[in-house]
Amino acid sequence: MAEVKRRDFLGMALGGVAGIGAIASLVAMKRTWDPLPSVVSAGFTTVDVNGMADGEIRDTQWRGKPVYIMKKRPTDEIEAARDFELGGAYYSIGIKICTHLGCIPNWKESEGYFHCPCHGGQFTGNGVNMPGTPPPRPFDIPPFAVKGESTLVLGESGKEYQAMVDAAPKA
Ligand code: FES
Repeated sequence: MAEVKRRDFLGMALGGVAGIGAIASLVAMKRTWDPLPSVVSAGFTTVDVNGMADGEIRDTQWRGKPVYIMKKRPTDEIEAARDFELGGAYYSIGIKICTHLGCIPNWKESEGYFHCPCHGGQFTGNGVNMPGTPPPRPFDIPPFAVKGESTLVLGESGKEYQAMVDAAPKA
């Protein structure tokens, strides 16, 4: 009888630990894939990046197109043509449509790059096409304007966006 109770207790304890682990995994997944808080109106998308962690990538949309925003880590290299400052941190932004034939690449967290499932295209976290893969050019950058310390308005062309356009290599 005592043996049965002990087994029951161990079973419940292990079940509890597994349950807590599963819930923690789900919370982490939700945090990673949650779209950014955003408001869409008349061709503009207002996005709040407040609370993003260093290195985190979050998705939003602009005019029906998938857009990603990455918060750079303090140790990451900053590229004038691909990165901008907002509230004391740097971010990268791009329209997540493959410049080869228009598929939607996925972010590979473990590899640290975007992978296009169609023909194996790869893009860096800054959205630059990787040599030796099919995409001919980097992700397009949506026009955007910085507002305050944590807000972006996609669809408006602000000075940070213009600075990136000016710094881009000319074809
Ligand atoms: S559409 Fe992305 S590699 Fe071909």
